[in-house]
Amino acid sequence: MISTAFILSSLTAIGVVAALGPAAVNLRTAANYTILAETGITNVPTSAITGAMAVCPISAAAITGFSPLMLDPSGQFSTSSQVTGHIFACDYASPTPSILTIAIADMGTAFTDAITRTPPNFINLGAGNIGGRILTPGLYSWTTGVTINSSITLLGGAADTWIFQVNGTLTIANGVQMILVGGARAVNIVWATAGAVTAGTNSHLEGVFLGKTGITLKTGATANSRLLAQTLVALQQVTVTA
Ligand SMILES: *[C@@H]1O[C@H](CO)[C@@H](O)[C@H](O)[C@H]1NC(C)=O
Ligand SMILES: *[C@@H]1O[C@H](CO)[C@@H](O)[C@H](O)[C@H]1NC(C)=O
Ligand SMILES: *[C@@H]1O[C@H](CO)[C@@H](O)[C@H](O)[C@H]1NC(C)=O
Repeated sequence: MISTAFILSSLTAIGVVAALGPAAVNLRTAANYTILAETGITNVPTSAITGAMAVCPISAAAITGFSPLMLDPSGQFSTSSQVTGHIFACDYASPTPSILTIAIADMGTAFTDAITRTPPNFINLGAGNIGGRILTPGLYSWTTGVTINSSITLLGGAADTWIFQVNGTLTIANGVQMILVGGARAVNIVWATAGAVTAGTNSHLEGVFLGKTGITLKTGATANSRLLAQTLVALQQVTVTA
């Protein structure tokens, strides 16, 4: 008779352990962008963005603080010294508008998927105050906003997943860090927020932010993230890498 413990330890040895946490949120084509917003991207220079940025349905005029935006001769994208990647807007030449329209729809679909998942493993953890917590993989749901006033740790393996459903604002205080431990990866962490996301000065974010409204990163904030907002993304001298 082979014991369960033996089987489990054997599976662990060959790396066949099921991932913990909810099924991944499929971003579809929204995953092509580090920053995607519907009403604009504002910036106080100098920021450093790695990856593509896009606005739609608003025009490129709603991208500010990245001057000069250098329009490619194709008319399909522009570039900026602050962005390592292409910048797109819905008023650029075809096929950019149709690609962006799909990406915006995919962002909305991903938000709805993430915010409606059930059943949660954790409901209203900490009454919305989760500063200092160690968060294991799972589906977390708050009927209210969430405040993070001191650094948090996301503890889990490289295939484990986290979905945070925040039915209100998400406020990350100045200097607060999101720390990944155990191989946890930002791509497997989703913050779906019904209200505004505000990251304080010198804070550090990890994960995919799906905002029903706006996402603001204050001076010196860094993010190993995608910022996907259904309104505005506002940046102040930040570093964002997908
Ligand atoms: C965007 O992402 C999708 C799906 O991941 C991919 O098939 C597509 O080629 C990407 N590029 C554009 C411009 O949409
Ligand atoms: C978090 O910090 C803010 C600003 O200092 C304060 O107003 C709020 O009460 C704090 N919240 C908690 C839960 O500590
Ligand atoms: C979300 O918050 C709104 C009010 O802001 C409330 O009407 C609604 O029931 C809440 N939904 C959930 C799932 O908590």
